[in-house]
Formats: sequence, structure tokens, C-alpha cells
Amino acid sequence: MCGIVGYSGYLLAVPRILNCLSALEYRGYDSSGIAYLNGGKLEVAKRVGKLENLANHLKTKTIPASCAIGHTRWATHGEPSIENAHPHTDENNVIALVHNGILENYTDIKKSLEGKGVTFYSETDTEVFAKFFSWNLFDENPELKEYYAKYYAMHNTVHNTFKISKKRIIKALKHTISMCEGAFAIAILIKGYEDTVFFAKRKSPLILGKCDESFMLASDIPALLGYTNKFYTIDDDELGFIEPDKASVFDVNLKPKKLKFHNVSIAPEQVMLGEYHHFMEKEIEEGAGSVLSTISRIEKIRALEKIPAQIFSGDFNLHISACGTALNAGLIAKYIIENQLRIPVDIDYASEFRYKKPLLNNKSVCLFISQSGETADTISCAELAKSAGATSIAITNVAATRLESITDYLIPTSAGPEIAVASTKAYLAQLAALYDFVTYVAKNKGIPLEFSMDSVKNSVIKNNGVDYSVQIREVAGLIKDYESIYFIGRGIDYFLAVESALKLKEVSYIHCEALPAGELKHGSLALIKQDSIVIALLTQSALIEKMLNNIHEINSRGAKIILFSPFTELKPFVFKFIEVPKVNDSLAPFSVIKPLQILAYKIAVSKNLDPDKPRNLAKSVTVE
Ligand code: F6R
Repeated sequence: MCGIVGYSGYLLAVPRILNCLSALEYRGYDSSGIAYLNGGKLEVAKRVGKLENLANHLKTKTIPASCAIGHTRWATHGEPSIENAHPHTDENNVIALVHNGILENYTDIKKSLEGKGVTFYSETDTEVFAKFFSWNLFDENPELKEYYAKYYAMHNTVHNTFKISKKRIIKALKHTISMCEGAFAIAILIKGYEDTVFFAKRKSPLILGKCDESFMLASDIPALLGYTNKFYTIDDDELGFIEPDKASVFDVNLKPKKLKFHNVSIAPEQVMLGEYHHFMEKEIEEGAGSVLSTISRIEKIRALEKIPAQIFSGDFNLHISACGTALNAGLIAKYIIENQLRIPVDIDYASEFRYKKPLLNNKSVCLFISQSGETADTISCAELAKSAGATSIAITNVAATRLESITDYLIPTSAGPEIAVASTKAYLAQLAALYDFVTYVAKNKGIPLEFSMDSVKNSVIKNNGVDYSVQIREVAGLIKDYESIYFIGRGIDYFLAVESALKLKEVSYIHCEALPAGELKHGSLALIKQDSIVIALLTQSALIEKMLNNIHEINSRGAKIILFSPFTELKPFVFKFIEVPKVNDSLAPFSVIKPLQILAYKIAVSKNLDPDKPRNLAKSVTVE
């Protein structure tokens, strides 16, 4: 939710900031904005909608600024508008600030500032942040603020005599964040500091990048990959500033930090489209690779062996919490664990888990699944698990996330950067990590399994060779203009139907509902009429007969069934049949999900929608 960038160097800052913002656009695309110091002036440009609107506005000018901050917004407080777009400035236009996160106590701070005569023009918490910081900076000497601004307006610079020291700025920033509740990563420009970007962070991610001739800040590593591979992950409650040749970071007690930059080896091509039209298309194709590299990474770093085997030896309760697609991966894990290990699993939407007074104790083992490792609801659950003394395990795709930092153990997925908002390859990587986890528990408990990790790899490889393009294009054309579509399945296929329905609805805006096939006649069948579309999934031979009954029920209402299945004998009973490879029953997710992801993608494209940036959504959901 929202991406921020900062640059301080010797080169043109604006094109760099725009480049980095385009890599962060997956975090929000309701509006974007940039602030820079140009010949002493603090200038701000903002546009509503996608970043291209801002880029088109700025491309006609060469702005000789070498220090700038930028923002791409997913609206939380206030509609997408110029007033609500970042950067936000203070009353005298001395400070410009961009923010990712939520300032939870902003109404109290706003009220108190209004009482002191400060006026607000937007509905955002960020304007409050900017004005609160400004107030704290000039607090000791409010006339200075006015003088600062007036002098500045006259001379376009601040005489050194009046310049506020960086020490004082950092103190004011520390005081500001100590009064702020919630999550924030902020980058700030201050008039008079032509080459400095100030920053602070708590809970929201912020990365510091060291380039040859500059320092940069961004919400994630991939945003800076075109410029550097040397990174420092800024910790909670750290703050500081970057200049072209130096980065200064302080801890909560304002003690300077010794910075150790880590080399990150993500190839820039991983975040580029290459031969593909959209990231969603590219990432669906990368699904098999992400399974294989997840399995090999978990093995290489011995991630599972770090989880003490004794926690599985006696009584333990297994809980899974996650959101969206990550939860859907968890549903598959629950099915497999209960089906094969005969161990009960509780699973909850992370947004619900904390409110149900979960039964957690030191015998609980909690799995938190999150591509981004940033999802606020999932993080809150992990905090809750920790306070209850449970063992917590994170499955994340992004390195060094907040979720990782608050859980006891990490099972990393290795899908590489996932840029499209709709999760595809990360879902498969999460399944790979979960199947690996199941294998580890089974080994420790001496329970034989129906599959091995080698069979997972083989099924992925087998499935990857299938070309669905012609069949799926045809089906996409058939259903793209529908307003509502139903997905059915039984057993594990139902959970795959749930994920397939989520994928299709989020990128095509078609209402999709997934139902256990046997449930249809208990109410929803009332909605099925002549020409309704029902997408059916059937991968389990033991369920053929029962599913066939459901197929007949639907056919007799005149609906059109599109069946994804390896059982070709069912072809005569359905309107369209998409053959998927036959794999071991437990491995169905690895064979059937790809064509359904392709279907969602093709429908979005045929409706001229942008599958990478579905409306109203953002990749990292850092609000609860
Ligand atoms: C759907 C999708 C979302 C995410 C969900 C959790 O395609 O991408 O449902 O899966 O927002 O995000 P993470 O996995 O980052 O916690």
C-alpha cells in the first residue's frame, strides 16, 4: 500500500524517481506525486490515476534537481484526488513529505494542531504528519518558521545564519515519531537542504540503497535494482538522512548506526517484462520455476531443519492464518495435512483470527503465509501468536520482512519478485513450501505420505509443457461478457475452485462464486439458468461419480459447464472440456491451477483491462 522513493546524488533526480515509482506502482496506483528542490525552490507535482499521468506531465521539462522524493498511492484516507495525493507540504511550503503506512492517532494530532491554528486541506493522515513534523521542528521558535519561509520566498535560499541544524531536524523528527502511533515509512525534503532527504520508519518497509554516486530510499529492493545491488534494511524506529556521499542512520536513542550494506542478487530482468505483455502473463509462466526454486532453496538453507522436531512429537495444535491467495494456499495445506497426516488444522482469515479469541498456547504451532510479508492482518496475528507463547512460522517470498522478524522460523519461498497485483507464481511457491512442511512433519512423526517432494517437482515439470493457449482463448471469448460465473469442485478441487474464482474476479471484474459441488443444490442452484456458466474442476478419480451427478443437475437447467479435468471420458457430458495432466491425487494443485490462471489473464486482456493493476487493489495490504 503506497510506495515511496527518495534520491540524493549528483544526477537528475526526477527521471530516477519516476523509474523507481514505476517499479513500485504495484503498491498503489490511485495517484502519484513527486517533490524536488530545484534552484532552492521546493516544487511539487501530482497527478491522479496511474503514474503515466505524472510522467507525461513531467516529461516535457528537464528539471535540474538532484534531490527528490516520490510517492505512488493506494487511497486509505480520502478519495484519489490531487488534494489527497502525496507529497504533502506544511503551511509555509518548507517541508514536503511522502508516507507509506497509517498514522493511527492522526485525528487527535490534527485536532490539537487545529487548536493551534493550523489549517488542513486534505483528508489524509499524511498531511497531519507533515504539519506535525513542521510544528515540532519550529516549535521552540515558531517565528523562525515564518521567517524561514519569508526569507526563503525572497531569496530562494536560506542564509546559513538561519539554517536549522541537521541535529535539530533529527531531534524534531524523533520527537514527531515518538508521538505517532501506527505504521509509517516517510521521506522528507526541507527547504535549504538542497541535497538531503530525511527519513524515518516504523512497521512499513524502507530500504536504503547505496549507489556509486548517490544514496536512495525505497519501499522495496526491486525498485532500486536498476541502480544498485547494495542495500541496508532500515529497522523500526530508525531515522536519518541521505546525502550524495553519505547516509546517516540513527537508532531510537539517536545513536549513529554502523551501516552494513548487503549485496542482493536479483537480476534486473526479473523485474522487467521482457517478451511478455504483462507481468501476470510472465509470472504465470514462471510458476513452475518458482516451485522448483522454492524446493531447492528450502533444502539448500535447511530451513525446515531449523524448526525443532520435538514441537511435532507430542501434542500440538496447528493453526494457519493468511489473507486472499495466501489463505487459499493454506486451505490446500489444511486438506493435505488432515487427509494424510490425520492432524487437525485450524485455518482463519487473518482479519478474523484475532477477533475470535483464538485458542493459542505454548503447544500451538502457527503458520503465517504471506507473499509480501507485509500484510497488516497477518502480521497482527503473528504478534498475537507470539504473545500467547505459540511457535510461529512464516512463509514469505520477500526477504527481511516484518513478518519474518516477529516469527520464530522462516520457510522462504523463492518465486522472485511478483509484480502483478494478482498472485500467481507466489501461490504455487507457497504450495511448494507447504508441501515441504508437510513432508517434514510426516518424517518426524513417521507417517508415510502419498507423495514425495520429487513427485511434486515431476508433476510441475509435466504440467509446464502443456500448451493451453488455443483452448483457453476460446473459453475466454465465450465467458468474457458474463456478469456472474460459478466455480464448483469437491475435496481439494473445491479449494482450487476458490483460488480460481478469486483470480478471475480480481482481474476481470466478473462476479465469481466458488461452491463445493454438493452444496449447489442447497441454495445456489436457484441462480443457475439457461446459458449460465459453471466452471467445474475434477481431478480426483474417487469423485467422478458424485461430480457427474452435479454435472447432470446443472445440465438439466440449461447451463454451460466448462470442465477442467484429466478424465476425458467426461467430455460428452460438458459444454467444453479442458484436459489437464493426470497426477497423483494430492498433487492436483500443481497440475490444474495454471490453465485457470491463464483463463483469468486472457479474460482480463480480452476485456481491455490491465491485469497487472486491477482497480481498487494493491499488492501489499498494509492496513487492517
Ligand atoms: C490475490 C492476491 C491477494 C493476496 C493477499 C495477501 O491475487 O494477491 O489476495 O494474496 O492480499 O497478500 P500477501 O500474500 O502479501 O500477504
